[in-house]
Amino acid sequence: FYRNLFQLAIDGPAASGKSSTARMAAQQLNFEYIDSGAMYRAVTLAALRQNLSPTLLEDVSKIAQLAATSHIHLHTTFDPPPLPLTHSIPSSSITSSLPQTLVYLNGEDVTYEIRSPEITNNVSGIASNLDVRKVLVEKQRALASGIYDENQNKFSPTPLIKKSPKGTVMDGRDVGTVILPNADLKIFVTASAKVRATRRFKELQQQSYSKRISQIIDFNKVLEDLEKRDKSDYERKISPLKKANDALFLDSSHMSVTEQVDKIVELVLKRAKEK
Ligand code: DC
Repeated sequence: FYRNLFQLAIDGPAASGKSSTARMAAQQLNFEYIDSGAMYRAVTLAALRQNLSPTLLEDVSKIAQLAATSHIHLHTTFDPPPLPLTHSIPSSSITSSLPQTLVYLNGEDVTYEIRSPEITNNVSGIASNLDVRKVLVEKQRALASGIYDENQNKFSPTPLIKKSPKGTVMDGRDVGTVILPNADLKIFVTASAKVRATRRFKELQQQSYSKRISQIIDFNKVLEDLEKRDKSDYERKISPLKKANDALFLDSSHMSVTEQVDKIVELVLKRAKEK
């Protein structure tokens, strides 16, 4: 029954803009949005909190165990509440009208914590742990078919009818190649490293505004970190970042977010008609 829902797989490197694009496309299409990277980030946070190291051999199986037992709940709000009137951030950096994904780890809201530099710098190590991947890929597939109950951390024998989405959009690195190899449409989004670093740089500036902390953000450091992460995402042995053979390539270097969303929505509607 649930397989009748449209599955859209979006993959691409860090800061390619795929998450915002995927969320906005989900909003327009009335699809459920699943951020697979947020799940790796949540497991990384859980591991660091227990002082487990992704590089220590004796911790590797403990981290996989943690991935299996942690309740990771993703909730995308398409209609976030407006910012308080007293908020003093420049209007150019207000993104409150964009959909947001709230991430809960064992019931605790960790939405912001999982985006910290500490998590970002450690997530690649966790994401190259084969046992962690097995656990998360199983949860991700079950989420896309509506049979994973995130609140209970249990797989249900029958689909859970939570909402009435018309499909699922999942973004990550191996969605089209591993998680949903039979997805109805696969898109590989990318942009040059410089463009992506510029986007991440602006995002970081915006975050420091909204948290009201003054901090100097070094563009070259942002670019360097991004290239490091690209290298480990593309070169890791297990499920490396790779365009699926049947994925469409979308170079977003010279596209605005709205243009990307429009393009994706157009491609989905076209493919849905062909189905
Ligand atoms: O998209 P992101 O930056 O939030 O992803 C965080 C990390 O998780 C990134 O280093 C790659 C990894 N990841 C992965 O290995 N497979 C996925 N499907 C999604 C993310």
